[in-house]
Amino acid sequence: MFAKLNRDLNAIRERDPAAGCKLAAMFLYPSFQVMLAYRIANPLWKAGLKFAARFIMQLARWFTGIEIHPGATIGCGFFVDHGSGVVIGETTVIGRNVTLYQAVTLGGVLPAVDAEAQRSVKRHPTLEDDVIVGSGAQILGNITVRAGARVGGNSVVTKDVPACATVVGVPARQLAARPTAEVEPPFAAYGVSNPDDVDPRGRTIAALIDEVQSLRARLNDMEDRLSTTAMHDDAGKPTLGDNTPLPPGTRKS
Ligand SMILES: CC(C)(COP(=O)(O)OP(=O)(O)OC[C@H]1O[C@@H](n2cnc3c(N)ncnc32)[C@H](O)[C@@H]1OP(=O)(O)O)[C@@H](O)C(=O)NCCC(=O)NCCS
Repeated sequence: MFAKLNRDLNAIRERDPAAGCKLAAMFLYPSFQVMLAYRIANPLWKAGLKFAARFIMQLARWFTGIEIHPGATIGCGFFVDHGSGVVIGETTVIGRNVTLYQAVTLGGVLPAVDAEAQRSVKRHPTLEDDVIVGSGAQILGNITVRAGARVGGNSVVTKDVPACATVVGVPARQLAARPTAEVEPPFAAYGVSNPDDVDPRGRTIAALIDEVQSLRARLNDMEDRLSTTAMHDDAGKPTLGDNTPLPPGTRKS
């Protein structure tokens, strides 16, 4: 259990560009807090202590805003970023290193209709390893989102998603194929193709550096032109601008 929790903790630091040290991840991330509760509640559920298991997860929901049924199966390295509004149903199966953003539902299609017939039946989705699900996405029914797939924010997915595919929209449609997971970095923050683009401070600093380099190039160019045109004394000899002749082979800096 501790090894799994440690992996969940590391997942936060690996996958949130804003995450700080381990201590911060422990106290400031509802993902870790809910997984702490889940890692206790899930064995209780399996041992038949169903009320205790559900009670623990209910407490965790009050604290974190994340609702995970203790009967769900969740692999290690699981990370729910921000968290609030996430719902994970009883028969959901989640592989390793899966990331969800806030307000994601992994639910049944119509749980309220003929609920008795759906009891103990697999009615929630399976998410294989390395799947990333954008905020507000709804993944409904006993479908499989295959390894490395990405689900766009606010999409509604009711059919299987192939490995490494990206699906978006309502109902979700598949975007053009992207390179396979083997040649890509293992995690893309926010699911986007170029995670470097999502840090606004980084973008601002990069733009400022570009601007400084461009100004420096223009300044060098102006200095070159000034040193070859205007710096001559009355006799036509090159000067530093105060009638001092320039030493041969030098220019004003
Ligand atoms: C789906 C997603 C992973 C795709 O990222 P990407 O591979 O970089 O794709 P692009 O941004 O190049 O978009 C490709 C196309 O899909 C469309 N698209 C992207 N995300 C979409 C979404 N959530 N819903 C509908 N269409 C979407 C784009 O408009 C674009 O359409 P076009 O080809 O007609 O112009 C990303 O857009 C996404 O939704 N990530 C989740 C982010 C999130 O939840 N953030 C929460 C942080 S708190």
